[in-house]
Amino acid sequence: MAKLIVRLEDRQATISPMIYGHFAEHLGRCIYEGFWVGEGSAIPNTRGIRNDTVEAMRKLRAPVVRWPGGCFADDYHWRDGIGPREARPRRLNIWWHDGESNHFGTHEFLDLCRQIETEPYICLNVGSGTPEEASAWVEYANCAKPTSRAAERAANGQPDPFAVKYWGVGNENWGCGGHFSPDDYAREYRRFATYLRGRSSTPIELIACGHTSPDWNRKFLETLGNLGMIDHLSIHHYYNSGHAVEFSDTEYYNLFPRALQLDAQIRDAATAIALYNKTGRKIGVIVDEWGVWHPEARGDSGLYQRNTLRDALAAAAVFDVFNRHADVLTMANIAQTINVLQCVAQTEGDKMWLTPTYHAFDLYQGHMGKSGLRLDLDGVPTIEARAGDGKPVQQPVISASASLDPTGREAVLTFQNLHLTEACDCEIRLKGGKAAKVAARILTAKDVRDHNGPDAPNRVRPKPFSIAAKGSTLRATVPPHSLVSARIKFS
Ligand code: AHR
Repeated sequence: MAKLIVRLEDRQATISPMIYGHFAEHLGRCIYEGFWVGEGSAIPNTRGIRNDTVEAMRKLRAPVVRWPGGCFADDYHWRDGIGPREARPRRLNIWWHDGESNHFGTHEFLDLCRQIETEPYICLNVGSGTPEEASAWVEYANCAKPTSRAAERAANGQPDPFAVKYWGVGNENWGCGGHFSPDDYAREYRRFATYLRGRSSTPIELIACGHTSPDWNRKFLETLGNLGMIDHLSIHHYYNSGHAVEFSDTEYYNLFPRALQLDAQIRDAATAIALYNKTGRKIGVIVDEWGVWHPEARGDSGLYQRNTLRDALAAAAVFDVFNRHADVLTMANIAQTINVLQCVAQTEGDKMWLTPTYHAFDLYQGHMGKSGLRLDLDGVPTIEARAGDGKPVQQPVISASASLDPTGREAVLTFQNLHLTEACDCEIRLKGGKAAKVAARILTAKDVRDHNGPDAPNRVRPKPFSIAAKGSTLRATVPPHSLVSARIKFS
């Protein structure tokens, strides 16, 4: 019997809703087709943006969308994407072997964010851009004073500033964003950041590009010196194990330790920040690209991949890591919303279906903005798996997290059984509370390789699940490869 001990009196940091964020790049069919179909399209749309994918994101209460890249960001020139659409220049998208019509630009992105009711996060061009171009974009978007850039924004249909809060100073600047050394990026960062804040009429937060290598981050922060110039440091983590759908059982288990490397990566980034942060204010860690990147997602097919139940379980295990790091983690953005990598929805013409990963986000929605709770596991079986470096790891088959709403009257508990063939008997002990009512849902399928598609859009989706409750003890038998989300009301 596995025991999950939820300590209601031991409140941890608030879980920022931003941890459940998204990323959308001009890549494959993410922006074009996934969101933008154009006003003349037969696909139902609002001002050119398709209604079904917007509705799906709204239902998830998607807190933030990062745009326009990715690698695309450091070769994007924002002026190409404003003004009358028919007059916008056609460019190359060198990273993703595509043409770029620029029909989706700043105004379209910010309209998308309004339709979803989400916070925009714009990534500036450092690699091939200039501080002048980047700061002009901030002024264009956010300046309330009567400057010619603000007037241009008004002439393009937006008199009030957009008040975009999150601005990334480049993307993967150690790679596609300019191949900078940490020292060189620190110098560039200083130059760019100096001219950004003063151009916005509303407070903005700047995100510096970091690395999963602790050395890189330390060198960058040391050379930067003045950490007053950054608000967050970002890292990226992608992983895979075997084929997207036809993976072996061993490959199934090996995906988990690879995903969970994020635990150490977040800790390392936070430690580097703590070492150099003499500002007395919080500088957060952001994971602004993460997810499974299967071998079938290739550049020439727009990084499209099928998403199985395994991917959803791996995402849920990552959410548990994120929830546990709520004290330092200020945002995370899965790659990438629609049709690309570990997306939450896929489309084919006018058809749209949700991926199992969408449902994992949905089952974790209840944690957003709540206080994390300490949760101890006891007697949980383990399975031997291998991390990316080939070293054996004892992977616990249960991963879980819990949170409490501000009134203290309702808790959310999410837990999963990763075992492929064996159900797990779980006893949940609520330390400091008695359950009056429990409502639970489960995400599972006959086969962990099951996925949704145009002809089977609901093959994998949550269903009601029953949990027996008696006072402060709950009991559930969790089927193999399944994820449970329970709302517990206290008496
Ligand atoms: O998400 C796909 C690509 O992966 C992004 O453009 C880049 O930042 C990362 O390497």
